[in-house]
Amino acid sequence: MTDIFSPVKLGDISLANRIVMAPMTRDRAGPGDVPTDIMADYYRQRAGAGLIVTEGTQPSPTGKGYWRTPGIHSAEQVEGWRKVADAVHGEGGKIVMQLMHVGRAAVQANKDEGAETVAPSAIPCPDKIPGPDGVPVETAMPRALKTEEIPGVIAEYVAAARNAVAAGMDGVELHCASGYLPMQFLSTNSNQRTDQYGGPVENRIRFVVETLQALAEALGPGRVGFRICPGVKFNGMDDADPHETYAALLKAVDGLGLAYCHLIHIPLEGQDALDLVRSNWSGAIIENGGLNFDKAAAVIEEDKADAVSFGYLYIANPDLVERFRAGAPLSKADRANFYTGGGDDRKGYTDYLTLGS
Ligand SMILES: Cc1cc2nc3c(=O)[nH]c(=O)nc-3n(C[C@H](O)[C@H](O)[C@H](O)COP(=O)(O)O)c2cc1C
Repeated sequence: MTDIFSPVKLGDISLANRIVMAPMTRDRAGPGDVPTDIMADYYRQRAGAGLIVTEGTQPSPTGKGYWRTPGIHSAEQVEGWRKVADAVHGEGGKIVMQLMHVGRAAVQANKDEGAETVAPSAIPCPDKIPGPDGVPVETAMPRALKTEEIPGVIAEYVAAARNAVAAGMDGVELHCASGYLPMQFLSTNSNQRTDQYGGPVENRIRFVVETLQALAEALGPGRVGFRICPGVKFNGMDDADPHETYAALLKAVDGLGLAYCHLIHIPLEGQDALDLVRSNWSGAIIENGGLNFDKAAAVIEEDKADAVSFGYLYIANPDLVERFRAGAPLSKADRANFYTGGGDDRKGYTDYLTLGS
């Protein structure tokens, strides 16, 4: 029986325990989308996790869609992230950066002046997204990427990944869930292309497969993970056959030797999503979604996944691993401060207490 507190290796990344902090956008980057010292404090406080996955981080100005999300495409951003990586490593933790290109899921007012919104097809995201004042508004009309532009988008991801490693990150995670650019390519309803990146499943998975191949070549496959959520409808996703899409994707990338597949596990008609991953992917798995300690410990004990990740619980419990070890009560997060609000970035962010403080 495997213990949730036991060490594990995901690709080249050695974790002290199997408890992962899930990526969470918190909208607290500074001017120029540069990570702040407050963000370094936040991640330092949570470094007891076996692995931290950072909030979604844009590889380019085009990839930004939300307010105050950090980037990893300028020298200042690299310096900001270096403080974060150093803070986490200083406490003995590990940290990978989530690369998040939102594609069509973007509000123009949240982006730099002149930054475009691009997608596989010129179909807007039907869901509203918060603008600079936090009030949800219509998303931008995307421009369909030309076939010859796609290598350039992949090159942006590669440059971002190299920057992440230059900043001291232990690796990167490609965000392929939540209706952002990679998932817009995967899903039948958002990808109506007629070139080699659209149509049948082998074409719809091509963008993600090529991006993961390029990241693996750049960093070494053992430093590259990816995140999926088969069947999710967020940001207007509606794939006609998630089973077919994700089985094909997982099989196609299985031989690359990547560090892990991070699954956001939601109910899926037909085959359960974790079974879908396990039957098409032989690498490490991080299981996520609505877990508490008992459920997570059972997943690990039954060897259904190699690690488990927690989002919500990490917001209010910076010392989550210690609390789990001690069987101590958990604090509740204040939703009002999930994203920036009230002008005080520390509020509901770095002011949650540890046990005994
Ligand atoms: C405030 C907030 C921000 C989030 N931002 C991201 C993100 O940037 N990237 C991502 O992949 N998932 C994001 N998520 C989803 C979480 O990583 C996680 O999958 C989800 O909360 C379910 O796990 P949980 O039940 O342990 O909270 C976010 C969730 C929350 C609550």
